[in-house]
Amino acid sequence: MAKMWAGVTAGQTEKIADDFNSSIHFDSRMYKQDILGSMAHAAMLGKQGIILNSEAETLISGLADILDDIENDKLQFDMDCEDIHMFIEQELTNRLGDIGKKLHTARSRNDQVALDIRMYLRDETDTIIDYIRKLIASVTDKAEEYKDSIMPGYTHLQRAQPITFGHHLMAYAMMLLRDVDRFLDMRRRMNLSPIGSCALAGTTYETDREFEAEKLGFDGICKNSIDGVSDRDFVVEMLSCMAILMMHLSRFSEEIILWSSWEFKFVELLDSFTTGSSIMPQKKNPDMAELVRGKTGRVYGDLMALLTTLKGLPLAYNKDMQEDKEAIFDACDTVKMCLAVFEPMIKTMKANTVNMKKAAQKGFINATDLADYLVKKGLPFRSAYKISGQLVAKCIKEDKVLENLTLSEYKEFSELFEEDLYKEIDLLTCVEKRISKGGTGIKSVEEQINYVKQKNN
Ligand code: ARG
Repeated sequence: MAKMWAGVTAGQTEKIADDFNSSIHFDSRMYKQDILGSMAHAAMLGKQGIILNSEAETLISGLADILDDIENDKLQFDMDCEDIHMFIEQELTNRLGDIGKKLHTARSRNDQVALDIRMYLRDETDTIIDYIRKLIASVTDKAEEYKDSIMPGYTHLQRAQPITFGHHLMAYAMMLLRDVDRFLDMRRRMNLSPIGSCALAGTTYETDREFEAEKLGFDGICKNSIDGVSDRDFVVEMLSCMAILMMHLSRFSEEIILWSSWEFKFVELLDSFTTGSSIMPQKKNPDMAELVRGKTGRVYGDLMALLTTLKGLPLAYNKDMQEDKEAIFDACDTVKMCLAVFEPMIKTMKANTVNMKKAAQKGFINATDLADYLVKKGLPFRSAYKISGQLVAKCIKEDKVLENLTLSEYKEFSELFEEDLYKEIDLLTCVEKRISKGGTGIKSVEEQINYVKQKNN
């Protein structure tokens, strides 16, 4: 059959070329946005007198019927159509005859596809933000539950200073809060309407682009028609937001995987969020966390794919741009799936506070506090640091911990040590003393929790 766009050519293409060219098998998911966009376009054409009002009404109700039929499984996509835009227009024309052919006045598939993808991704952005917010709430609840559970804080994956599990979890809540902010910021730039840019140069018809934009919930219009049809920055930006979000989830996953190991045993995931091994009966594997970590690579790949596709494209529309969809759809599906499984996994995760505490008691993570003790007694920090280091070396040699050296042993290193040093190096004291803003002190963590709760509303 000749193509709808048959013009200078007869519109006859090889089957292999058709298959290669067509995008309906992945862009059909934008059917709703395509139809809503067309309804607004028909309304604008009617209002401006470009078509008759009665024709606009016929088009709009025809489009509404198609939407209904698709949603009620009464109409299947025709996979022989090149893309979703052609399918809807063809179906409309089949149903309405010549009036259907009027819909495509004063627009082009170039601005139509740019419109559809913006509308589609706007919805996806909102869904993803909802998911992140839900995860933030669960992470924050967990942090509240464990705000006084002491664990070692690490740098270089070496035990560094005592912190609370609540404090550690709140670090992730902060990252996720920034993710929400990043998506919202990106959404602002995405939410401008390209429709009316037409093929690239605008149109001779007296259109009302603002009317269409407003009808479709946009904040304004793309101000340059060439940019309107060429711009895919918002897709790249959204992919970047998703890549950063996945980077956060991947770091979190990595810690959950480590913490679940026998070497750490800091957390226990609910059985239903783990898997067993087909051969080793003792195994309880954190597959969900591993997959989130693994799928991060996939989302990065989607971002790199689109950046590379767009690099070097001349203005305005090029068919290369059709490649944006599979990348962004894959990333959206992946991110939503990851968030959907990650949130209940965190919500049901239990901390092994005994093991955390035990680990905190090893590794001399109160050595800084010991040095600070001497500083408060008048010693310069560098000298205090040295003495504390020497005491740690002694402990390592004698297989002891700082808490069980005697006062006379301490006094061999400095006369400034008194009985009150033991209170100072007690892990709970170490945590409670860290009252600086953002620190691990319980009050400070409570402040962080309140801040996030208020921002996440
Ligand atoms: N399926 C195309 C895409 O996704 C729609 C736009 C086609 N425009 C054109 N002039 N061939 O990019």
